[in-house]
Amino acid sequence: MTKTPHKKQPIGVFDSGIGGLTVANAIIKQLPNEEIIYFGDTAHLPYGDKSADAIRYYCLKISKFLLDQGCKMIVIACNSASSAAYHVLVDFFEGETLFVNVVDPLVETVVARQFNEVGVIATKATTRSGIYKQKLIEQQSGLKVHSLATPLLVPMIEEGYFNNNISQSIIENYLSTSDFKDIDALLLACTHYPLIKEHI
Ligand code: DGL
Repeated sequence: MTKTPHKKQPIGVFDSGIGGLTVANAIIKQLPNEEIIYFGDTAHLPYGDKSADAIRYYCLKISKFLLDQGCKMIVIACNSASSAAYHVLVDFFEGETLFVNVVDPLVETVVARQFNEVGVIATKATTRSGIYKQKLIEQQSGLKVHSLATPLLVPMIEEGYFNNNISQSIIENYLSTSDFKDIDALLLACTHYPLIKEHI
């Protein structure tokens, strides 16, 4: 059983960099009275190119840090970390705090919309884990899922390289894959990508 949280304790939110701020922002809008501690692990960015074990190690260290700051719950505001480390964190810190990942809510939303065919763009780590395809098909067996790793997008966003010709041609190159020609929806399965949503 998880410890009973106290209202005044902060919510911990972490990502490899600025991507998780899109999640923190959504939390602040829904829960304006909550205090948030945000951890952007820019020392190890990008997570998408790291092994699952390396990502798990970073996530364990960050979670320990956030718990030491008194956080009552931890939001893993990163798809790469959610896919590699969510279960490890839940098991390791059993009874100490509540963890929330970003994969399950997106899967739930997609399944509720009953699309026929979707594309998923994500980091290499998330794509390699196969987590979206597996969870989506588990819950909606006929759904066609096309996954594509788009590893240049995170470094591009972190460097502030967007809304220009270079970012335009990188995005166009990725999205022109023939796999996506009949999709009803494109899942932005990396928390950095909402920052370039208009562009996409
Ligand atoms: N924002 C992250 C995600 O949702 C991590 C990106 C990265 O560091 O590669 O996957």
